[in-house]
Amino acid sequence: MTDQARALPGGLAGYATRAEALLPPATAAYFLRGAGREETCRANLRDLEQIRIWPRALAPLAGGHTQRTLLGRRLDVPMLIAPMAYLPVLDAEGEAGVAAAATAQGVGMCLSAQAGQPMETVREAGTACQWMQLYWQAGRAPTMALAERAARAGFAALVLTVDAPVNGIRDAEIASGFTLPAGIRAVNLDGLPRPQFAPLKDGESVLFDRVAHVLPDWEDVAWFCANAPLPVLLKGLLHPADAAQAVVAGAAGVIVSNHGGRVLDGAPSAISALPGVVAQVCGAVPVLMDGGIRRGADVFRALALGASAVLIGRPVCHGLAVAGALGVSHVLRLLRDELEVTMALAGCRTLEDISPACVQPPTLSGSCSSEG
Ligand SMILES: Cc1cc2nc3c(=O)[nH]c(=O)nc-3n(C[C@H](O)[C@H](O)[C@H](O)COP(=O)(O)O)c2cc1C
Repeated sequence: MTDQARALPGGLAGYATRAEALLPPATAAYFLRGAGREETCRANLRDLEQIRIWPRALAPLAGGHTQRTLLGRRLDVPMLIAPMAYLPVLDAEGEAGVAAAATAQGVGMCLSAQAGQPMETVREAGTACQWMQLYWQAGRAPTMALAERAARAGFAALVLTVDAPVNGIRDAEIASGFTLPAGIRAVNLDGLPRPQFAPLKDGESVLFDRVAHVLPDWEDVAWFCANAPLPVLLKGLLHPADAAQAVVAGAAGVIVSNHGGRVLDGAPSAISALPGVVAQVCGAVPVLMDGGIRRGADVFRALALGASAVLIGRPVCHGLAVAGALGVSHVLRLLRDELEVTMALAGCRTLEDISPACVQPPTLSGSCSSEG
């Protein structure tokens, strides 16, 4: 056993504490904090914690497992690494190291458009990284060019993030003065055109008079879903009416998410929005969820409320910051083990046994009505 392995924290909370202590404050502010007063960040965690899980006695468990098939691909556990920008800031192994760790643990991965390493390099680091996330670029042609490159690199699906048309106002990050270290940038966006703006006239708003003109709308999304070389999931929906629109637009899946509380502070927690979206989508496409998943029990809670799988964000940052790819692998293993134990104690042999009946009906604030 290496010194590093000996020194690994024993549990998930230990990784979070150790990462906070190890990272320079500005780096911790960028990776671990959220927008505004962090109301939504806190709500993500609190609303998950408030869901109680029923223990069930003497249920048959032999032959149980945590496998799930998602968009035609089998995952050993219904978890994927959430797309997160600039991971090489946390450890030089970066996104490739995370892909190797996810592969070792049978977890899926979605690579960020703002990854610090080329998508082709990350694809080669293991079989886990099958999905590529992208933001709408400066028009249809550059967005499609990025999608086509992802298809050539062997990705199996695209994840179009739609909840951050403009950056959130991240107070903690701004106060910290975070800047990217020299040499780290979104390499996969090199060469793609950036929108060109004429100078502002008196009284004009940067946002409404300039930026808004280049933002995508539902027609663009429908065009993209129809023409992209791979199935497209939409990430960053909370309202059931938006989820319904995503299905109409041709999305292959919906990811209920508030970007980990990094964009609209005051948005409902992801878990509180999940049941409304699941009811609206009515099985037409898989519904995934992220935001606040910190323990295996949280994975169970999200599955009980109808998620097909969850994405894991900041716990991956914790693992990477503490011990590189080894740390990420350990974090994923801990989550996996905790999910298994939770299933066993709740009397669930497979993921198919996990249902709303496994939890006390949540009385969460912010659930939208399924009528939209
Ligand atoms: C440091 C950081 C960078 C992120 N970068 C992206 C990104 O590039 N694209 C994206 O769609 N989401 C991004 N997200 C949001 C995550 O994909 C995910 O929605 C969120 O982290 C889930 O919440 P959690 O961190 O509480 O698990 C980022 C999140 C963090 C923490």
